[in-house]
Amino acid sequence: MKNNISSFPNGFIWGAATASYQIEGAWDEDGKGESIWDRFSHTPGKTQNGDSGDIACDHYHRWHDDVAIMKELGLQAYRFSISWPRVLPAGLGEINQIGIDFYSNLVDALLEAGIEPYVTLYHWDLPQAMQDLGGWPERMIVDAFVEYSDVLSRALGDRVKHWITLNEPWVSAFVGYREGRHAPGHTDLDEAIAAAHHLLLSHGEAVPVIRANCPGASVGITLNLTPQEPASPSIADRKEANWVDGYINRWFLDALVGRGYPQDMVDGFGNTMEFVLPGDLDAISVPIDFLGVNYYTRGIARSNDVPEVDNLPPTVFRGDEITEMDWEVYPMGLYNILGRLHFDYGFPAIYITENGASFPDIITPEGQVDDTARLSYIQRHLAKVNETIQIGVPVKGYFVWSLFDNFEWAFGYSKRFGIVYVDYETQERILKSSASWYRKVIKRNSIDVNI
Ligand code: FCB
Repeated sequence: MKNNISSFPNGFIWGAATASYQIEGAWDEDGKGESIWDRFSHTPGKTQNGDSGDIACDHYHRWHDDVAIMKELGLQAYRFSISWPRVLPAGLGEINQIGIDFYSNLVDALLEAGIEPYVTLYHWDLPQAMQDLGGWPERMIVDAFVEYSDVLSRALGDRVKHWITLNEPWVSAFVGYREGRHAPGHTDLDEAIAAAHHLLLSHGEAVPVIRANCPGASVGITLNLTPQEPASPSIADRKEANWVDGYINRWFLDALVGRGYPQDMVDGFGNTMEFVLPGDLDAISVPIDFLGVNYYTRGIARSNDVPEVDNLPPTVFRGDEITEMDWEVYPMGLYNILGRLHFDYGFPAIYITENGASFPDIITPEGQVDDTARLSYIQRHLAKVNETIQIGVPVKGYFVWSLFDNFEWAFGYSKRFGIVYVDYETQERILKSSASWYRKVIKRNSIDVNI
């Protein structure tokens, strides 16, 4: 039986996503410069098992076969990122033509396969040479990013019509410079706040450059958005939820739509914000064609400010369905955040640029991977996407994270998100059940399909 949330509007875009450092490998080949992730993962103790992206999925050498897999899946779009140091080994200045050619050939092959490229300019692999000059906390990075965006959009702009400036600036800034779990591994809040500003400013200044080089292109930015719910109705828990919401979501959303940085957060951070110069906030709020949303889970906020005995008992609890990342499976959070983006912030179009789940995968003796939990995760989130479309939210497409199992940052290869299994010893690719299912979804433009 079909119901109204199974079928998607005509023209809805079905895709899958990856990122350069997570799949390419070839970390020092053909003139590529070192990135902060090369440096970080080569530093003992920074990643699980000491894993690095040195080889990853060896996509740099296997891209041709990988595009054939995408075609076999019927993907309409492929979101991938460019390794900045592969193209500009020092971050600016000298261009590495072999690096440009790699991406240019990939784009040609995609188009020939009928797959629309969605290019992310920055998915965390900053040239180490730029970090050596201070990295994102320093204002010099803005000009460098604009130069990089210019080089890339000139090289690919005749063919690439969809551009994403940054992937998840919150993670780059706060996980990289404050929490230290990601490259470059710093733990300084003030650095992180400055980094966040320079990331947003880089985005804002790159948008017109990309538009000038690629007339008619659609340009946006991708944020990781995690809706927060207070664990109880207490004032303390509601304050905490609002604080975490400000930290992860509002800091970026408000600035992008021209509301500036949220004052409660500025006060809470206690930062003088002297790196915000006149004109910066206008540049950051340049109109964008779409917002990219990466959604995985929700947060439940419980205050530490009052002793537990003085707080109200919790009324909101984590469900018992948890992914291997220890993230709660909570499709309703996607519905809630999408609704808010439309009704509160009014973005003209939204793409889900990442959504998916890590679960342990087992290969059966027949060589199959029956990843029903992942399939079910994707299906239920897609149902919520469709419900938001029914209430008027302009969601234009969905990219599953990820096309391939890959290097999951500090977790190394221990977490598999792919709809395509990768055997890291042999580099064999195996379509999981979720991939076979997704192929049918794409074909029928409906999630009401069996495996
Ligand atoms: C997102 C990242 C992506 C991947 C997923 C699981 O934050 O953008 O590269 O690691 O999480």
